[in-house]
Amino acid sequence: MAEKRMEGQERQAPETVCERVRYLTQEIDRHNYLYHTLDAPEISDTLFDAMYHELVALETQWPELRSPWSPTLRAGSRLLDGLPKKDHRLRMYSLDNVFSQGEWQDFLDRMRRAYEGQGPFPEGFYCDPKLDGLAVELIYEQGVLAEAMTRGDGSTGEVITEACRTIATIPLRLRGEQVPELLEVRGEVVMFKKDFEALNADQKAHQRKLFANPRNAAAGSLRQLDLSVARSRKLTFLAYSLGASKWGPEKPCASHSELMQRLSAYGFLTPPNGRLCRDFREVTEYAQWVRDNREHFPMEIDGCVIKLDDLKAQAILGFTARAPRFAVAFKFPPLKVATRLKTIEIQVGRTGVLTPVAVLEPVAVGGVIVTRATLHNEDEIKAKDIRIGDTVLVQRAGDVIPEIVGPVLEKRGSDVLPYVFPKKCPVCASPVYREPGQAALRCENLSCPAIRLKSVLHFVSKAGLDIPGFGEKWVEQLVQSGRVVNPADLLTLTVPDLLQFKRMGETLASKLVAALDDARNNTSLDRLISALGIRHVGTETARTLAEHYHDLEKLSLATAEELQTLQDVGPEVALSVRHFFSTPANVDFLAKLRQAGLWPVQKASTSAAEQSKALAGKTVLFTGTLSVSRSEAQKAAEAAGAIPVSGVSRKLDYLIVGDKPGSKLAKAESLGVQVLSEEAFFALLAKKQP
Ligand code: IVH
Repeated sequence: MAEKRMEGQERQAPETVCERVRYLTQEIDRHNYLYHTLDAPEISDTLFDAMYHELVALETQWPELRSPWSPTLRAGSRLLDGLPKKDHRLRMYSLDNVFSQGEWQDFLDRMRRAYEGQGPFPEGFYCDPKLDGLAVELIYEQGVLAEAMTRGDGSTGEVITEACRTIATIPLRLRGEQVPELLEVRGEVVMFKKDFEALNADQKAHQRKLFANPRNAAAGSLRQLDLSVARSRKLTFLAYSLGASKWGPEKPCASHSELMQRLSAYGFLTPPNGRLCRDFREVTEYAQWVRDNREHFPMEIDGCVIKLDDLKAQAILGFTARAPRFAVAFKFPPLKVATRLKTIEIQVGRTGVLTPVAVLEPVAVGGVIVTRATLHNEDEIKAKDIRIGDTVLVQRAGDVIPEIVGPVLEKRGSDVLPYVFPKKCPVCASPVYREPGQAALRCENLSCPAIRLKSVLHFVSKAGLDIPGFGEKWVEQLVQSGRVVNPADLLTLTVPDLLQFKRMGETLASKLVAALDDARNNTSLDRLISALGIRHVGTETARTLAEHYHDLEKLSLATAEELQTLQDVGPEVALSVRHFFSTPANVDFLAKLRQAGLWPVQKASTSAAEQSKALAGKTVLFTGTLSVSRSEAQKAAEAAGAIPVSGVSRKLDYLIVGDKPGSKLAKAESLGVQVLSEEAFFALLAKKQP
């Protein structure tokens, strides 16, 4: 085992090493299953880690020994390029819903009628909770996980194999002696309520965005391109049905309950508390039991699923265009819980809109603690007659943000007064204004500190110029002190300016100033346009505008008619752009930007300085893992005058490939696009850059 590999010299691994790798692979896989799926660990974490690290070391030394189901494939440290789309072999149907006993009876009658002429109807229904997560299909070839896909629109999904490999309850290889040639296992990826609470607590501690519910958190985590993030999120897979299958010597299952047992034997978790019910009444009782115990399930559920147990009968009944005729979801009404409305807070957004937010006595709704709920606007509060101090019903349905259904009038105290929406901005005290025909009230004072703060925050955020180091705390201090009135003022900050702030040191101040310099010199026009925060103008529209107008001056002179001739620019966007450039405060802001030296010009043809840049006007695209982060590489390319694009086409000038490039490389090669290694790309930048 101690033998070292000589460079350039092909050597075969000694049999002892092969055996050790086989042993470790098998044992780690088994202990992973014992721990995560059966919840019955046999060894300590320390021992497990030691075995794991030994396997990593051996596989690094002898890569050819790495098994296609090696537990080290779960490590997930790559950054993906995107999620390719692919068709499902068999359509992933949705389910029809019933909401009452009566509707369930109607569904059963329909099933029976559809079965007429086929012999006695095989009563017997397999029922299990309806999991509120993301439907996923796992494709096993010869028992090894080959590919995983999201449901997508049912016929086409996104390939999420690597993110799925990071989920410990997804077997990388089916357990058991005999496995089918092909097996597509379908099920739900969910985040347990306790894992969701922990994730949001962590997001909060790091001042990151909170997820509205476990389902959104699961979806966001699965579609993560950064696999190390995907891996850090605790997700669970539960299997409930099959897609395509090709069986070997073993017999296919005859019933859904048998299928559930077989899936467990293959190493899958299945939805908890599944039960075979004999008739209509047992199903109804089961549905009621699940509903009564809803709070005690570890994951969110929103009903139960009733499936005709006999698989032959399932095949006879088949599908409508949308859903199976042999299965139905018995949905529960959304959960409603009463709590006290402590107060109503008014938030002022970047565009000046005043949004009322209900601050609630914390309450658990379906396992998720709710402390705040949006009240949307003044009309909503009036229509529902919601008052501070009321006991209110809070509702949370599936992926919907918590909402206030209304007050519990019997519990209203005699001293509770109707809510009066403020006539003044709660931050700057300017009168608020309601545009005719609109529900939103706005603070129209462009120098309102709340609007200023939000627009400066947007300017430095990822959606804006992406200037590192300017967190909310610093921006707040800068705006509060009056030193930064609009985002352009940031660019004039000096080290001595910054040193005036509490807890600011020389090193940090120099870093911040360097980051501002970098933004001044290297920001592309489309990024700047998106950073301006013009309503309805996101990154895509910003790109279109930049490509067409080349600089902010030309854009500011464009008429609404002219703007509408551009792709994806409709009347609303055009008017919003016009409104932005004709607002005096913005004219002033743009002048300040220009003065501060942040005035990018798009494309090589417009200026000699730009033209001399290494990649002036060239389109570039990155693929595979680079030694620097994708955004750093992109910024470097933009600084050299390049235009990053998102797909391979004949028009692409350079495809820059890192480690393990995906399908983009093959496509680029087939189209004759020039391919550069990362080194060649940086060499090119270094050579020609002024
Ligand atoms: S069985 C052909 N069982 O809910 C029937 N589906 O809203 C196969 N779902 O697309 C589905 N929990 O992805 C089944 N226990 C469960 C389920 C479940 C959630 C999903 C399923 C379906 C969606 C419909």
